[in-house]
This record gives sequence, structure tokens and C-alpha cells, in this order.
Amino acid sequence: MNKPEEKAKILRDEINKANKLYYVDDKPQISDHEWDNKFHELIALEKEFPHVKTPDSPTQKIGAQPANGFNEHKHLLPMLSLGNAFNEDQIKDWYERTIKLLEVKNLDLVCELKIDGLAISIFYENGLLTKAATRGDGITGEEVTENVKTIRSVQLVLEGKFPEILEIRGEVFLPISKFNELNEERKKNGLEIYVNPRNSASGSLRQLDSSISSKRPLDIFLYSLGYTSNDSIFSTHSESLNIIKTWGCKTNNFSKKVSSLEEVFNYIKSIENMREKLDYGIDGIVIKVDSLHYQNILGHVGREPRWAIAYKFPAEQHETILKKININVGRTGAITPWADLEPVVIDGVTISRATLHNREEIIRKDLREGDKVIIQRAGDVIPQIVKISENNTRNNSSEKFLFPKNCPSCNSNLVLDKENAITRCISYRCSDQTIRTIEHFASKVAMNIEGLGVKIIQEFYSSKIITNIADIYKLKHKKEQILLLSNMGEKKYNNLIASIDNSYDQTLEKLIFGLGILGVGSESSGWLAKYYKSINNLINATEYELLEIDGIGEIIAKSITSYFKIKENRELIKELIDIGLNPIYVDEDIYINNLIYNQIFVITGKFESFSRLELENKIKLNGGKISSSVSKNTNYVLAGESPGSKLNNAKKLNIKILNEKEFLSLLKIQK
Ligand code: IVH
Repeated sequence: MNKPEEKAKILRDEINKANKLYYVDDKPQISDHEWDNKFHELIALEKEFPHVKTPDSPTQKIGAQPANGFNEHKHLLPMLSLGNAFNEDQIKDWYERTIKLLEVKNLDLVCELKIDGLAISIFYENGLLTKAATRGDGITGEEVTENVKTIRSVQLVLEGKFPEILEIRGEVFLPISKFNELNEERKKNGLEIYVNPRNSASGSLRQLDSSISSKRPLDIFLYSLGYTSNDSIFSTHSESLNIIKTWGCKTNNFSKKVSSLEEVFNYIKSIENMREKLDYGIDGIVIKVDSLHYQNILGHVGREPRWAIAYKFPAEQHETILKKININVGRTGAITPWADLEPVVIDGVTISRATLHNREEIIRKDLREGDKVIIQRAGDVIPQIVKISENNTRNNSSEKFLFPKNCPSCNSNLVLDKENAITRCISYRCSDQTIRTIEHFASKVAMNIEGLGVKIIQEFYSSKIITNIADIYKLKHKKEQILLLSNMGEKKYNNLIASIDNSYDQTLEKLIFGLGILGVGSESSGWLAKYYKSINNLINATEYELLEIDGIGEIIAKSITSYFKIKENRELIKELIDIGLNPIYVDEDIYINNLIYNQIFVITGKFESFSRLELENKIKLNGGKISSSVSKNTNYVLAGESPGSKLNNAKKLNIKILNEKEFLSLLKIQK
């Protein structure tokens, strides 16, 4: 008779092997009944002898206890997105640009299916799945380990030889057949149906209760390696795909290595011809440079690698009615017309709005309210009006659309930026712009304040609860007013305040990006944060100085200095700093050994040569943290003249007290 440990191991190995044959290789070797018996035997064994349970046990695929929320996961390497090509010429342009940059005559490429799901990053340590996270904004994702573990085709334990720490990336999706089954069942149970497989996959993966996730038949294709603790295990992307496969992970069988553009075009044609037969959604083809050395040389621009491009399939088109042309005022004052459409379903998604880009577009297409139009939607792109339908008929009341001369929000004169074909409202006292700026500031990619969407901002703005970004931080003093005036309940309010409080920990880069300065994107915000270290330094930046920073050109430099020339903007920054929103950029590589790094400081009293803010900045610059009250976690109290009760508390708790001189010498010693 085997010991329970041995018996459990045998069962684990047998079930894991059967799972791989069934879910990854598509070659089942045992019957469902046999599988069920083994599985239940293992569950019973683990219940009786809990110590035999291991993290790689297939019983883990049932899901764990519900979580309270997802932890953030900072990606070790950014999860990039892809530039798009919509026709052969654009692929050719990309190819020619690439061989020119590499100074080669031809280039090996890998063509792959672009799976329409959600990107995922999975970590294995010594071959055991230890963590999985969503892409999020590419820098920070959400940890969804328990849910990913429930996906049948995900290996909990790798086979063969592998680096000690290993990140594999891929796409989680819901097969189309399962999506239809799921919706049928939801309909039967009177539940709202999912709009498309991608949304339902995303909803399933982000369930806090992984036992619900485990019931959704999610699937995965792994398509690349991320971080590895041992870099030189392969030299091409195609080799890495093969290696991933040898570890037992599921890769897509349609990946193909090619060595000419012609082969790329043939690949695309062959996939377009069989696309309908696949049981998963694809929205294009990904073309990647095979050599990893070349990929390194090519690098990336913004969030898009130069070494890969996505060819997007032509969008599906439909006819509908253009009911009304509306005007939107964006965060940067750009005036964008948009179309209110008679709802129509494309690729399973109901479309009732389309962008009209700009004034010229309406003139060129001669679009009028009431017209029958052809609209299209491609993947994640905003639906567009392609042209007026051939079936369109107009009666006498049909009128040409008159583009406004004044801002529909603040009535100031609109200005045409001819070069970019954008009509703009250049007033900085425009309500719509302010509302959009607040929305941008609170968004996931900036300060990540949950529960502050555009609807609530509009509501707060119209009742004067919020008039600018800084007012967000005053919401905690306006509880009664908010509960009385808005549609917000107490629970939602408390969550909002908690999320606002958390935003104090956002980085300087996110804060700069959140301000919404024209032309300053997330990447340039990173460069500015690194160079200026604090928002206080940035407001005094000169154009000359800004041009020193790699990546910042004249237009952005001018835009930054003009932004900070505006009195209201300078006042806003001052207000933010006063509120305590003053993140400092810390170069961890430089300061990691400094004694101040990670130490908690409390400051009290007045100082001779520095203001409190300057001292705070010095501490933060060196990686230290500021706290407003003394506790046993405090490392230093920095005391000036006429200190408050904090000094006494520090003495009671035996915490090291520094005067200004001692603090400065501490800084010096460390540098
Ligand atoms: S490569 C930098 N390969 O497409 C390389 N991505 O628009 C990016 N995707 O977020 C990843 N199938 O979620 C790659 N075979 C494939 C893919 C794929 C789908 C998704 C992925 C990514 C998005 C980029």
C-alpha cells in the first residue's frame, strides 16, 4: 500500500498529464469518467491528509476563496501594445523601415494570429506557477493568480528544463462556442448577456471569486517570454515559442516563420480564408522580427515595439441612419463632431455612436442629419462613418451641417489649427475642458481614482462641488453636500474617498501626465519626472532646459512652458502641493544604499535654512517617507524651533531626534 504522499503524487502526475493531453495537445488518452474518478480520489485524499496538498495540484483549478480586491502587479518589463497596419502597403512600409534601420537586405519574420482576448503575464519560479497578472496599463496590472490557475490549459507546473524565474506572456480568451453556450444559459436564467467573447473573458478573469472563474471555460495561447532569470537560452522568437511548447504550455499552432514579404501576404490570405472555422476570435495577424538580437536593436517607440506590427483585418460594414451630429469639447479643447446613430449590431456589439473626426470630414463626405450611412467597426477602434449609403435619399428639409464658430461649452471663439485639421477652443476657463481634464486626471492611466467617472464629475461640477483637479482632494470634507446633491450613496462615497487617499501614493510621472498638458503623454511624463524630480521644479522649467531632455521637442517644450505661464495653472500646482500631493521622483538605483531610503520621517517646528517643503523634498528625493504623526514605526523626528507635541511623543517612544544640522550632515555622509 502506497503512503498518502506517494499516492497523491501519482494521482497528480496522472491528472496533470491527462489535462495536458486534453487541453493543450488536443489528444485525450483517458475517458472523462476515468479522469473524474482520479480527480475525486485526489480531492478525497487531500481532504483526509491536508499535508499532501501541493501548489501544483490539479485540485487547485477549482478556485480559491473569494478575494477582497486585486493586488497591483508592477510588470518587470513593460507589456507593450502593437502598431497597426491596415493594408499590404502599410506592412511593406514597416518592413522597409525595419530592414533599413537594421541595415540588412532581408529579414526572418514570424507571423502569428492576433488573438482577440486579454493579455496575461504568468510567472513560474522553479517551474511552479506563482503569479499571474493582467496587462493593465502596460506598466501595472492586476494580480489574478487564482483565476489563471483555474484555466484548464494553463500549466501549474512546467516540464523539462527551465530558468529559475520565468515569465511567459500570452492571451486568455473564451472560445466562441463556449461564449454562445454561456450566453444561452444566462438568457435562460434571466441574466444580462455578454456583448462579445472578449468582454466575457475579461469579466471572467476579473472575478474576485475564483470558483466562478473556474466555471468559465477560459482558454489560453502563450505567445512570448517576458522576464527570465537566465537570458541566453535562445536567440530567436520562433525558438522561444518552441521552448514554451516543450515546457508543456499551450501555444498557437498557426505561428509560422517566413523570410519574405510575399510569404507574409500569402500567410494573411490563407488565414483570412479559414478564419471563420476557428473557435476563437482573431482580429488580425501579428508580424514579428524573429531575431531577438534585432528586436533589441529596434527597441520601441512609446508603448509600441518597432520589431512587430499588427495587421488588422478589414472592418465589418453596416448601413444605418445618422440621427444627429453632436459636438464634443475634449480635454485639450479639440472640437470633435460625433454621430448619434440608429443602433446597429456589428460583430455582436451594439453601435449607436461614431466619431466624425473633424469639420473637413463632414464636408468631404457631405454628411447630413437623417442620411443613410455606412458604418464600420474594427476591433478596438471607435466606429466610423465610411460614406453615405448608395440607398440614401434626401428630402427638401435635409440641410448641410453648419459647424459651430463658438465653443458649445463656453461660447468663446473657436480657432482652426490648419496643420492638424483640428478646431479648438483655446479658453482655459471652458467647463467641458475642465470636466474632461478632471476625468483624465482621475483615469486609470493617470492617478487611478476609482469611482470618479465623467458622469459623476459632471454632476459635481454643475453643483460646484468640484471646479478643478485640486477640489478632488477636498471631497472628503463635503460628505453631506455630496450625499444630498448627487446620486451617490454612502458606500460609493466611502470607496471614492479611499481611492482618492490612495492616489497620494501615485508617482510624479502619473501626476504630470494627469495634469493633461497638451502633447505631454505618459512616456514624456516619465522623462520629465526623471529630469525634474518634483512638480515644483517642473513649473519653473525653461524651453531651453526642456529641449535638453531626449524625446522632448520644440512643440512639447513650448506647450509645457505656456501651461505653467497661466496663473490659474500655477495656483493649481501650489494648491496640490499644499494639499500634500507632492510626489518626488526617486532614482532607486542611485539611492538604494542610502540610510534615508525607506525610513519614515516626521517633521515638526520651524527651520533656519529650509522650508518644511524643501526638507520634505530632500527626504523624498533620497527615498525616505514622510508621516504626519509619530508612531513606533517612525525612524526619525526632524525637529526645528518651537516643535509641537510630536517631539515629546518621539522622546517617549525613544525615536531618534535630529535637528536641522544633524539632518543635513546625515545627508552629506550618505552622498
Ligand atoms: S505580441 C509587443 N502576439 O495584442 C508585443 N500580442 O495590441 C505585444 N495579442 O496586448 C504582444 N495575439 O494582448 C502578441 N500573437 C500575439 C498576440 C498578441 C494577441 C494582443 C496582446 C497585446 C495586443 C497588442
